[in-house]
Amino acid sequence: MTKAVNVIDVEYEQPEQEGAVCATKYAWARVPPEPSQAERGTLKDKIRRLLKEKNAVMVSHYYVHPDLQDLAEETGGIVSDSLEMARFGRDHAAQTLVVSGVRFMGETAKILSPEKTVLMPDLDATCSLDLGCPVDEFSAFCDQHPDRTVVVYANTSAAVKARADWLVTSSCALEIVSALKDKGHKILWAPDRHLGGYIQQQTGADMLFWNGACIVHDEFKALELELLKKEHPQAKILVHPESPAEVVALADAVGSTSAILKAAQTLDASEFIVATDKGMMHKLRQLNPSKTFYEAPTAGNSATCKSCAHCPWMAMNGLAGVAHVLETGANAVHVDPALIPRARLPIDRMLAFTAGLKNGQSPGALVPHFGAA
Ligand code: 13P
Ligand code: SF4
Repeated sequence: MTKAVNVIDVEYEQPEQEGAVCATKYAWARVPPEPSQAERGTLKDKIRRLLKEKNAVMVSHYYVHPDLQDLAEETGGIVSDSLEMARFGRDHAAQTLVVSGVRFMGETAKILSPEKTVLMPDLDATCSLDLGCPVDEFSAFCDQHPDRTVVVYANTSAAVKARADWLVTSSCALEIVSALKDKGHKILWAPDRHLGGYIQQQTGADMLFWNGACIVHDEFKALELELLKKEHPQAKILVHPESPAEVVALADAVGSTSAILKAAQTLDASEFIVATDKGMMHKLRQLNPSKTFYEAPTAGNSATCKSCAHCPWMAMNGLAGVAHVLETGANAVHVDPALIPRARLPIDRMLAFTAGLKNGQSPGALVPHFGAA
C-alpha cells in the first residue's frame, strides 16, 4: 500500500538586485510518511543488505531523521556536519554514496568524486540559501566587483561554486576569511547574510554581502530566547551562526553543527538551549544522556514560524527513500561535467586549508596574497 506524501509550501527570500530588500518567493517540500515500527525494521534490514550488495555507504547530516543518522553510523557510514560529509565521501572507498541531506551536499559529493555514484533519497531536497542565490544574478554581482575575492558558503549550487574562489562551511569560515583578510583580500560573500555578518564582526574583514538567509535559523528570536534563559538560568546557549546577530550575541558557543555538539560535551553545564535545527537534538541527547536540551524559540507571541526549527527539505529524507534508491539506482546526482573542474577548485581549496590547519600549518601559509596567481 503506498501512502500519500505530504507536500507543503515553503516561503523563502531572494534578493532581486544588489542592495534591494528580499522578495518573498515560494518553494515546496514533500515529507514522507513516518513508517510504522514494523516497517522501520523491515526497511533497515533491507538497507543493511543493499549497502553490502552495492558496495555503498551512507553519508547523513545531523538534521535528518534519527533513523538515517543511526543507520549511517551502524553501517560504517557517517553522520556529521557538511564539511565532514564532503571529506568522508571523497575519501571513502565505496563506489556508491547515499547522501541523506539536501541537494548541495549530494552535488558536493559528486563534484569531489565524479567516478562514484551519488544517490539521494529525494533530489528535490533543496535549501533556501541555494534557492536564493541563482547563478545568473550572482555572477552579475561578482562581475560588478572584480576587486573582491569570492567566498561562497557550501549551501549553494554547483554553478555558484564554479564562480567562487573559495568555499567555506560554518566550521571553517572564520579561519579562512581571517587568513584571506590578513593576505590583503577584500571579500564578496554569499549567500547567508547572518553567517557573513558574524564572520565580519569576528574578523574585521572588508566584506560585501549577498542577502540570503536560512529559513530555519533566520527565525530564532532573541527576546524569547532571553525569556527562556530566565526560566533556565544555568543553561548555556548554543547557536548556529546562520541565526540573526541578536541571537548570536546571546550565545555561550557559536559554531557549526559539529561545533555545537562539541560545546555540549565540553562546556561545564548540564542544561543547554540550542538554536539550530531540531534534528540536532537526537545526537546531542544520545551523546549526553545526563544533560538537558531545550529548543530555542522560533516565534514570538504574535508571530508564526515558517519552519518551526526543522528544515522542510532535510525532512524529505526517509528510510523508504534510502531503500528505494539503493534498490533501483534512482535519484543519482548529476552535475554538468563541464562545471566540475571549476566547481571543484574552491572545494579543494577549503579541504586543503582545513587539512593543513589540522596538520599544524599556520593559516597564513595556506592562502595566497591577494593578486598572487
Ligand atoms: P553545518 O555545516 O553546520 O552542518 O550546516 C549545514 C546546514 O545546512 C546548516 O543549516
Ligand atoms: Fe538550508 Fe537552512 Fe535547511 Fe540548512 S537548515 S539546508 S541552511 S534551509
